[in-house]
Amino acid sequence: MTLREEVAIRKTFAIISHPDAGKTTLTEKLLLFGGAIREAGTVKGKKSGKFATSDWMDVEKERGISVTSSVMQFDYDHYKINILDTPGHEDFSEDTYRTLMAVDSAVMVIDAAKGIEPQTLKLFKVCKMRGIPIFTFINKLDRVGKEPFELLEEIEKTLEIETYPMNWPIGMGQSFFGIIDRKQRTIEPFRDEDNLLHLTDEYQLTESHPIESDSAFEAAIEELMLVDEAGESFDEDKLLKGDLTPVFFGSALANFGVRNFLNAYVDFAPMPGGRLTEEGDVIEPFEPDFSGFIFKIQANMNPAHRDRIAFMRIVSGAFERGMDVTLTRTGKKLKISRSTSFMADDTQTVNHAVSGDIIGLYDSGNYQIGDTLVGSSQKFSFEKLPQFTPELFMKVSAKNVMKQKHFHKGIEQLVQEGAIQLYRTLYTNQIILGAVGQLQFEVFEHRMNNEYNVDVIMEPVGKKIARWIENEEDIRDVMNSSRSILVDDRFGNKVFLFENEFATRWFEDKFPDIKLYSLL
Ligand code: G4P
Repeated sequence: MTLREEVAIRKTFAIISHPDAGKTTLTEKLLLFGGAIREAGTVKGKKSGKFATSDWMDVEKERGISVTSSVMQFDYDHYKINILDTPGHEDFSEDTYRTLMAVDSAVMVIDAAKGIEPQTLKLFKVCKMRGIPIFTFINKLDRVGKEPFELLEEIEKTLEIETYPMNWPIGMGQSFFGIIDRKQRTIEPFRDEDNLLHLTDEYQLTESHPIESDSAFEAAIEELMLVDEAGESFDEDKLLKGDLTPVFFGSALANFGVRNFLNAYVDFAPMPGGRLTEEGDVIEPFEPDFSGFIFKIQANMNPAHRDRIAFMRIVSGAFERGMDVTLTRTGKKLKISRSTSFMADDTQTVNHAVSGDIIGLYDSGNYQIGDTLVGSSQKFSFEKLPQFTPELFMKVSAKNVMKQKHFHKGIEQLVQEGAIQLYRTLYTNQIILGAVGQLQFEVFEHRMNNEYNVDVIMEPVGKKIARWIENEEDIRDVMNSSRSILVDDRFGNKVFLFENEFATRWFEDKFPDIKLYSLL
């Protein structure tokens, strides 16, 4: 196969959702279709006590959750599909956000009874910022949930994206009969999977069936006609820009509507895209010279070793194990001989991978998040990964003053790795850590203890609104108050940590000359 042919069959996406919406269940069903796993429960055995390889760390095991995003590849209908998992817990971390920088599309799973939940919203915003296509799977139709119209409206209003229902449910919960495929004009019954029913263009059944006189059927047809009348066409351009989301109804647990979803996904999801360099050039996936970037570093994958794994998204060309690459940041030449791909229940050495693929590189401390690797003599860096505005803060110090050196080394490395963000108070130089999720603190504490042999004292500062300042030179002492802490970030930029929205607004009113801004 030529490089072009290999790249053209790749699809790389992340699943985003709020915990419990059914992300793991859907992932499992997709992997089953692809033959990547043989039994359900392989991805996450919450109750069986069987843990997937993504649950490497003790913290993850204790809590039965997946802290870190893992990567799975499977084949379907001559496509090679890479799924990047995003941690499905309320305490998600910056890694979750960064994972979205490495994909070409996203699948949003929504619980039909709950609609848009906070974590979905946060992750969605990052996808929207990147302008990548988003596919929506509304899950748990076998239970009573919100009405389809209500859900579509909620998506449109809350997320500011057009919706296009690809199918429509007949009833829900106990009376869930099945889904109508709008394009095929077929009804796939929920409880009788072999018996596909056919509809005319006007939604008349082509054969007689008891459902004809069912009120849920009548209601569904009426609703569909309304949807048709609204007349919005399926605009593929809008989908590709992330301005329209195709919506699928189904039940991941019952494996219902999942295959339809997957078929449409492979039809419409884009192949790997190019990426901007810091100079503003685009590196295209078909370019023969290899390039890639690191979006995540996972420490202690194997507790018996101290190794780290850097996750790399390949942007152009082909990766061959043993190849020489240059790390642009340092100019250092590296031979990559230990590389791994990830499966649901296994990791294996990868010898060959191309644009769109994600591989793991064993790392003895060479890599940082955002690093660019190039295979040719050409040197460039991909555009920086965004920094995210932390919401939670903790003061931290070493329990044992004799351990200061280890303490600072640990902090420096974990901050560089992107595990946590570092701030310092202005005069007292107190270290404050920032995170987007509570779990990042727990992982930090655990790793300081485990890897750097330092016990730390963590003192919650709580939830704060962090705002950077455009015109730092105009800051005056009077602006410091009990409701806003002024700190330096790790690059020396000044940041206000406000108590709440009220304190932020109060400040903006009182000091209109100070221009505040937040990161993503
Ligand atoms: P997550 O990864 O998004 O956190 O969700 P997960 O797939 O673990 O699903 C959360 C719960 O919802 C699980 O039940 C799962 O069985 C259930 N679920 C997923 N899809 C459907 C669906 O289509 N219909 C119904 N009725 N339930 C669904 P649990 O009891 O919390 O856990 P488990 O013991 O089944 O793992």
